[in-house]
Amino acid sequence: MLANAERAQLLLMYTSNFRSNPKPSDRTKVTLMESTNYLQVRTVIVLVQRLCAALRICLQTFIGRLLLRGLGVRYGVGLELNGIPVVTLRRGASIQIGEHVLICSDRNTGLGLAHPVILRALAPGATIVIGDHVGMSGTTVVARSRVEIGAYCLIGANVIIADNDFHPIEPEGRRYSYENIQTASVQIGENVFIGANSIILKGVHVGKNSIIGAGSVVTKDIPANSVAAGNPCRVRRHLNELGNVGLAAVPRN
Ligand SMILES: CC(C)(COP(=O)(O)OP(=O)(O)OC[C@H]1O[C@@H](n2cnc3c(N)ncnc32)[C@H](O)[C@@H]1OP(=O)(O)O)[C@@H](O)C(=O)NCCC(=O)NCCS
Repeated sequence: MLANAERAQLLLMYTSNFRSNPKPSDRTKVTLMESTNYLQVRTVIVLVQRLCAALRICLQTFIGRLLLRGLGVRYGVGLELNGIPVVTLRRGASIQIGEHVLICSDRNTGLGLAHPVILRALAPGATIVIGDHVGMSGTTVVARSRVEIGAYCLIGANVIIADNDFHPIEPEGRRYSYENIQTASVQIGENVFIGANSIILKGVHVGKNSIIGAGSVVTKDIPANSVAAGNPCRVRRHLNELGNVGLAAVPRN
């Protein structure tokens, strides 16, 4: 096989040779055939790869939907599951997923994932609501009370959203106690973009259209239409008119 640069040079030689002498030499003919074969093989490999990926997603979506239904998760039409998420749904808790949601748990994404999507509703009455057209990759959502993610949100790789501290603050009996765990609902407004590896802690409300920078730790509310980042996460600037247009300007499909 020839290197790309060499192949391009020989093709150029063939083209210029063809102008002066329409009958190509044997060597040029062979090279051209090699190039054509190479391109054909490459095209077939790419097509096979795409077909395999599409089949894999169809299969994973089918199995994932069965799993979610079996666990009692409610989901809308058009749910796409790329990889199988980890789900815990305690008795009396609920997980609701809107329409045309993409839940990506496959490591083979742009940034790569540390783990699959994890959805846990851990206490009776705990609720996770994921709005229509949300896309999430390797995200962890844990609720003891309520976590709500608005429509059209984009949640980057390995983000954690939790409405509780998991362990009590008081030192006494902390190791084994599941009493007195600080809990406060989390609400992510519509069309929010949360950068990779961010953590959204209990009680936080992120206003619609806002962006949370990669690797942020969000401990306090973030107003709508702002770009916020850092640890602790602070508003850095406000979005321009485009950000203020709201969902009317967002394509529906
Ligand atoms: C938040 C983000 C969109 C801002 O992009 P931007 O508009 O080009 O940001 P700017 O360069 O104007 O930054 C504004 C300020 O915020 C700071 N900042 C931006 N992102 C930050 C971050 N992730 N953490 C800490 N500070 C950050 C900048 O240093 C700058 O500070 P300064 O005003 O003191 O100089 C971008 O930095 C980011 O984090 N993108 C997320 C990418 C991602 O995770 N995608 C998901 C893939 S699954």
